[in-house]
Amino acid sequence: MLQNALHQSKSYLKEIIQPGDVVVDATAGNGHDTLFLAKLVSESGRVFAFDIQTEAIQATQARLQQAGITNAELVLAGHERMAEFVPQNVRAVVFNLGYLPGADHSVTTESTKTIQAIEAALELLLPEGRIVVVIYHGHESGKIERAQLLEFVSGLSQDRFQVLHSAFLNQQNSPPELVVIEKKKSSS
Ligand SMILES: C[S@@+](CC[C@H](N)C(=O)[O-])C[C@H]1O[C@@H](n2cnc3c(N)ncnc32)[C@H](O)[C@@H]1O
Repeated sequence: MLQNALHQSKSYLKEIIQPGDVVVDATAGNGHDTLFLAKLVSESGRVFAFDIQTEAIQATQARLQQAGITNAELVLAGHERMAEFVPQNVRAVVFNLGYLPGADHSVTTESTKTIQAIEAALELLLPEGRIVVVIYHGHESGKIERAQLLEFVSGLSQDRFQVLHSAFLNQQNSPPELVVIEKKKSSS
């Protein structure tokens, strides 16, 4: 079976993340990605995880505590403010767009803020670092976010970044899509 966007996102992260790295979960939600990242960077590394909902930060905190993880910093703030909290030389940033499963579906990521956050992340990223974005576009605002995001990433400088877009083309249920941005080695 071909891997879905979520599985693909993890493969693209696993390929580059090393123990000791600094990485970012831009949408902590229930903390699945934060936990995944914390294990990859190990005790010597650090994960910064953002969410705008207290509920999400608490769920992430509980998941990390249960797993005995102590190398994550949870930030109750929008990812568009990433540069205020995260140091330079970040290996990877992951976005899982959309709303928190089981919570208020009207609280969702928004294209303007998502794009601001990606712009900030592009500057924080190490050469050969990656931004991995899983796009859920089954809901109305998700469709707008998808369109605006694809337009934005399509315009990124070819000299500085490689941009990949992966989507299943013959499925009727709007399966999630993946965007990966890799900063080129020679990029400043
Ligand atoms: C699909 S969920 C993330 C799922 C999560 N990755 C997990 O492993 O459970 C999207 C999350 O993005 C959060 N969110 C929405 N706008 C945000 C923003 N501007 N900054 C940070 N998080 C935001 C929502 O509160 C929600 O928890």
